[in-house]
Amino acid sequence: MNKIYLLAFVALVGISTLALTQFNTEPALRATLGAGAVDFCPQPQYRSDAWMKTFLAGLSSQKTDDATMQFLQAQIPTDSHVFSTEQIIAIFNQIVFDSSRLQAITWLNPYILTLTSQNIVDILGKFAFSSNKMGALKLIANTLSDVSDASKKVIVDQFTFSSDKSDAQAILNAISARNCIYGTITEKVAAFVIDISGSMDYTFKANGETISRLAFVKSQLTKTLAEQLKPYQKFNVIIFGNSASQWKPDYVDATPENIQAAIAYINKLTTNGATNISSGLDLAFNTKQALNGIYLLSDGVPNSGVQTVDGIKKYLADKNASRNDKVHVNTISFIMGGTETQNDRNLSFQFLNAIADVTNGSFKGISG
Ligand SMILES: *[C@@H]1O[C@H](CO)[C@@H](O)[C@H](O)[C@H]1NC(C)=O
Ligand SMILES: *[C@@H]1O[C@H](CO)[C@@H](O)[C@H](O)[C@H]1NC(C)=O
Ligand SMILES: *[C@@H]1O[C@H](CO)[C@@H](O)[C@H](O)[C@H]1NC(C)=O
Ligand SMILES: *[C@@H]1O[C@H](CO)[C@@H](O)[C@H](O)[C@H]1NC(C)=O
Repeated sequence: MNKIYLLAFVALVGISTLALTQFNTEPALRATLGAGAVDFCPQPQYRSDAWMKTFLAGLSSQKTDDATMQFLQAQIPTDSHVFSTEQIIAIFNQIVFDSSRLQAITWLNPYILTLTSQNIVDILGKFAFSSNKMGALKLIANTLSDVSDASKKVIVDQFTFSSDKSDAQAILNAISARNCIYGTITEKVAAFVIDISGSMDYTFKANGETISRLAFVKSQLTKTLAEQLKPYQKFNVIIFGNSASQWKPDYVDATPENIQAAIAYINKLTTNGATNISSGLDLAFNTKQALNGIYLLSDGVPNSGVQTVDGIKKYLADKNASRNDKVHVNTISFIMGGTETQNDRNLSFQFLNAIADVTNGSFKGISG
């Protein structure tokens, strides 16, 4: 009997220690997000094997290093799918100099969803000198999805000298976890514009769980707000289906109170209606305050409001002409699961990519 009690006691202490450890890593976040938080990224379609084959063949056929780099810069944006770590390493294997690999990281970075600490270790392993390894870490650290102490240690351990270890630690301590949908929010004033059309109810499987598109996006947006926004930033949350509505009439400071209130608003969202993308953009642009960036997420092409690529380009040119600030519109096509054909998925990619293109924003295609 005593033995069993003892075992039970040990188990209980073990569990509560574990719970406490996890809680201690992100107390404010865990308190705000509650039980519904989802802690994994979807497994999207990466660049296809066919695309990679043509790309790598083109890369290796370049005659000079300059030509190789020009080819790389020109070709990376020709497909909107993200790169896997293996694909990044395959590219590195075609590049001779560390300095060129560093340059390549800056071009690849927008097309990386997130990396694990092991992925980062694998990439750093392609750099021989510790100064270049450090340079690479500076460029790629912001792709890390898990900023726990254990995860940082795996990376710091790649450096030999104690001064390098402390530099690497400092780089890692300065970053926020990259969100697999929203990336890293750098804008001072940003709008999060999300699609709540009916198709956002489609589900997909990730990490053994079935989750709807909307539930996933809600969880990633709440994580982004809680983990990344600081009180000197301003934000608003805007939703669109048949038409659009907004959380606040104008951009507000990202104070802990406002973030908590926005999360409560987001958690209550349900799907509703068509895809009126321009109605959402209307609200995002409708401010007299300076605005730096819009994060627009949709799982389709608009079937209401402005519906053509040329139409949306003109729409954005008009908005730009009417404002003094340059607003980057970062777009995310999020089509996990669902019954959309490849053609539908491509059309969504094209529409959202065009928006990012004319506003110098970044585009991310997440489909699978
Ligand atoms: C789409 O939004 C615009 C405003 O941007 C609005 O005029 C139009 O009526 C909306 N479409 C529908 C079907 O509600
Ligand atoms: C979708 O786009 C890819 C390139 O991104 C292309 O290879 C494919 O043929 C397209 N599929 C359809 C059905 O348009
Ligand atoms: C926006 O307008 C500025 C001039 O005010 C211009 O320099 C810039 O190229 C425009 N950007 C777009 C995306 O039209
Ligand atoms: C476009 O954005 C990138 C980074 O987001 C920046 O480096 C570049 O200068 C911008 N270009 C223009 C024309 O605004």
